[in-house]
Amino acid sequence: MFLKLTVVFIVLLQSYVNVTLASDPDPVTDFCIPQTDAATTLLRCKNSSLATVDDFVFSGIKNSGKFSETGLSSIPVNVNVFPGLNTLGMSMVRADFEIGGVNVPHFHPRANEIAVVLEGKIYSGFIDTENRIYAKVIEKGDVMVFPRGLVHFQMNVGSTKATILGSFDSQNPGLLRIPSGIFGSGIKEELLEKAFGLNAKELAKLRKRFGPH
Ligand SMILES: *[C@@H]1O[C@H](CO)[C@@H](O)[C@H](O)[C@H]1NC(C)=O
Repeated sequence: MFLKLTVVFIVLLQSYVNVTLASDPDPVTDFCIPQTDAATTLLRCKNSSLATVDDFVFSGIKNSGKFSETGLSSIPVNVNVFPGLNTLGMSMVRADFEIGGVNVPHFHPRANEIAVVLEGKIYSGFIDTENRIYAKVIEKGDVMVFPRGLVHFQMNVGSTKATILGSFDSQNPGLLRIPSGIFGSGIKEELLEKAFGLNAKELAKLRKRFGPH
């Protein structure tokens, strides 16, 4: 009995530990503004006495950005554009949708995402590894979470523009869009035709649409 309980406890502890480790590493300094060392070209932390408040402020999401063919503007606020995030284990994205605009199915390999609707009505969801869908229309003030690595998608189903603000538990969540990842990356044609049951003409159309331009 005791042994059984111990085993159960260890299994529970392991799953807990796995969960808590599934994010960026803990920092060992207050912050670390990355800077390329001129002499060695290695990336290192800027001398902290030279840091200023402006290293910790990003002003690039006051407005929406340029809209894509699918009616989406998304502006990532990750460590690549906001170096002050380095070592802090978090980042954001602002996404704006035209009426009917779509955020194509995609996933972030390195982060959970939690998103709040600032404006509008958005059909929003994800699928799990058993191909089950979790989707509904969310609106201003609603918050939805997308578990790390799961494919998710959104579409503005309202009659006005829509805006969401997403947050990630990684400074660099990564983004893989399914359509361009599959059809735009140069995977061998024969493989894609077999995988998706497409003929050469159908595949060529998808390649043209999602391929690198
Ligand atoms: C950081 O800058 C301060 C002030 O310029 C200097 O005194 C200090 O030695 C520097 N620290 C390092 C590690 O270079």
